[in-house]
Amino acid sequence: PGQPLLDMRRRPLHDLRISVTDRCNFRCTYCMPREVFGGSYKFMPHADLLSFEEIARIARVSVGLGVQKIRLTGGEPLLRKNIEALIEMLAQLRTPDGASVDLTLTTNGTLLAKKAQSLKDAGLTRVTVSLDALDERLFERMSDSKVNVKTVLRGIDEAARVGFRPVKVNMVVKKGVNDDQLVPMARHFRHSGHVLRFIEFMDVGTTNGWNLEEVLTGAEILKKIGAEFPLEPVPAQYRGEVAGRWRYVDQAGEIGVITSVSQPFCGDCTRARLSPEGQLFLCLFASAGHDLRAIVRSGAGDDVLVARLASIWGARDDHYSELRGHATTQQKKIEMSYIGG
Ligand code: GTP
Ligand code: 5AD
Ligand code: SF4
Ligand code: SF4
Repeated sequence: PGQPLLDMRRRPLHDLRISVTDRCNFRCTYCMPREVFGGSYKFMPHADLLSFEEIARIARVSVGLGVQKIRLTGGEPLLRKNIEALIEMLAQLRTPDGASVDLTLTTNGTLLAKKAQSLKDAGLTRVTVSLDALDERLFERMSDSKVNVKTVLRGIDEAARVGFRPVKVNMVVKKGVNDDQLVPMARHFRHSGHVLRFIEFMDVGTTNGWNLEEVLTGAEILKKIGAEFPLEPVPAQYRGEVAGRWRYVDQAGEIGVITSVSQPFCGDCTRARLSPEGQLFLCLFASAGHDLRAIVRSGAGDDVLVARLASIWGARDDHYSELRGHATTQQKKIEMSYIGG
């Protein structure tokens, strides 16, 4: 209790995104292009990963400092063995006011039909599923995998069936690649109760060959959808919400647009990111993290960890998306598959 912890730009620490593995069974071209993440790519050895106990300890200390929302990411988080055990541990955390934390997970959906019930039973509160196309050939090309769209759709439906509602569906939009899927995707998820979110293709990492010409802006996306299905804005629910919210005028449901490129939202960015090996990153586009694993494995007490986290967050000045430009897109950055978006 006491003063909320603020960074240099007066932003509180509200969200902790925890990447639990750098592995994935997809090779999305915009995230893990096979030329880089091929057979000879060296993933992190298991001993380097934080254990569930270590993750839960960092999460508990963070919740004591103001974190109210925890998101598990990867790579593909459902590939981490017995992830349910970690979820059980995190579901028990309480804020200083005694509230439980919002505990969510972002997945590519391939293992979701199988795991939805056990994730729910472990105490997960919500799920977000990535899906970039309904067209099988295009989906196969973008994910560079042999998985069917149907498998992912079954995962989404099973998640809703076991009680995760709404399920959020993330579609990364690349101009000239899957923009013809905008209206079919919108149509498919209208009346489903799921919330489809369109994400501007971002310059995360250094391997995805990003260039501005492949970005379809949120405004252009809304124009295409709105021409088919009229939309009206929904006010933001809380400070720092990533997606702009819209609803269909005919009450068919809600969509979101995530405009990190055309309309950066750094001013309200309350997110810290923990890598699988315990590096804390203060921005999705940071080039270096802060080593928490060394502290956790040093035998130091929680007071040391609290002080370290408070000083790291207090010195935070990151606002990459507001500075994005020719020079910044060239600089060294962590990979999406390592930090989970
Ligand atoms: P909800 O609370 O469910 O709305 O979660 P979310 O939108 O924060 O998380 P999700 O993992 O679904 O991320 C959606 C997209 O937003 C991904 O492409 C993320 O990389 C991107 N994103 C999330 N947080 C940030 C951020 O702080 N900065 C930037 N630039 N992009 C972000
Ligand atoms: N730009 C935008 N979104 C991306 N994601 C992965 N790479 C990128 C990128 N370069 C998305 C994934 C997932 C979410 C966490 O981030 O598809 O839905
Ligand atoms: Fe895997 Fe998600 Fe990256 Fe695709 S975007 S390769 S599903 S981690
Ligand atoms: Fe936050 Fe960095 Fe994204 Fe800006 S670019 S919103 S500071 S993570």
